[in-house]
Amino acid sequence: MAETMARVVVTGRIPAHALTFLRESGAIVEAWDSDEPQTRSALLASVAGADALVTLLTERVDAELLDAAGPQLRVIANVAVGYNNIDVPACRARNVVATNTPGVLTEATADIAMTLILMTTRRLGEGERIIRSRTKWQWGMSFLLGSSIQDRTLGIIGMGEIGRALARRASAFGMNIVYSNRRPVADDVSSGLGARFVTLDELLAESDIVSVNCPYSPETHHLIDATRLAQMKPTATLINTARGPIVDEAALVVALGAGTIIGAGLDVFEHEPAVHEGLLDREDVVLIPHLGSATVETRTAMAVLAAQNVIGVLAGRGALTPIG
Ligand code: GLV
Repeated sequence: MAETMARVVVTGRIPAHALTFLRESGAIVEAWDSDEPQTRSALLASVAGADALVTLLTERVDAELLDAAGPQLRVIANVAVGYNNIDVPACRARNVVATNTPGVLTEATADIAMTLILMTTRRLGEGERIIRSRTKWQWGMSFLLGSSIQDRTLGIIGMGEIGRALARRASAFGMNIVYSNRRPVADDVSSGLGARFVTLDELLAESDIVSVNCPYSPETHHLIDATRLAQMKPTATLINTARGPIVDEAALVVALGAGTIIGAGLDVFEHEPAVHEGLLDREDVVLIPHLGSATVETRTAMAVLAAQNVIGVLAGRGALTPIG
């Protein structure tokens, strides 16, 4: 750590362990201590003079925020693997290192994707709602039948770390895997997973479950729109654990209503935390509030990795997981 005490501003609540870690490195740490995000004006005021910012995915890190921090700012450590909230070119233009937290949340997020696959195909949300609403029910041969996933095809859009971790799980459940990606993954990885590289068109046509696992960027905005939904099988389910705006939520509501696809499992939403009204009363969707990485272990590991990135940059060693 530099001799003059560096000032680190943490813009949202993160696990205490990571704050201790930052303080023990010799930094002066100021942390917003609430799960409620700060107002934009409070956020802009709070970052003034910071050498480092630890940010959450709910904050927009753009030129305005970087300029509000000032020219001494050296690093933005985002506590998330997704970094669509960060204007990376604006960081580069100011010589600010931007970092994210890949790796540590892979398994937790893949668990949630697999959970949504099971919840949707086995109608678990519906079952829970029946019991919680005190509706009379009776075991029966045809009561709340779902569909099996064994021997069905899972199409993974985006075969990064999370996509691969999902493929491992799905293949253990007996599913066939196809994937689309900017380029095929190495043969030893895909053959180990029994995964076949296909075009997005082929994936949509062949899959019983389509899982979105790619990063969000201008290129993937509304990647799954009305046209793509219409390419899916009428018996197919859409799962999204990546970022909401990759799916055109209004088009999804129309597709579900029209029977274009059979269901959806969503952990992320186009206008988070708002959820399209047209989804809320549907029995054929499972809706959970962006819980992909939400385990104590994973969130702690993410915050500690962000802290390590801050400490590394301030000490001149560089970041462990820089973006780009
Ligand atoms: C969570 O959504 C993340 O990007 O880490």
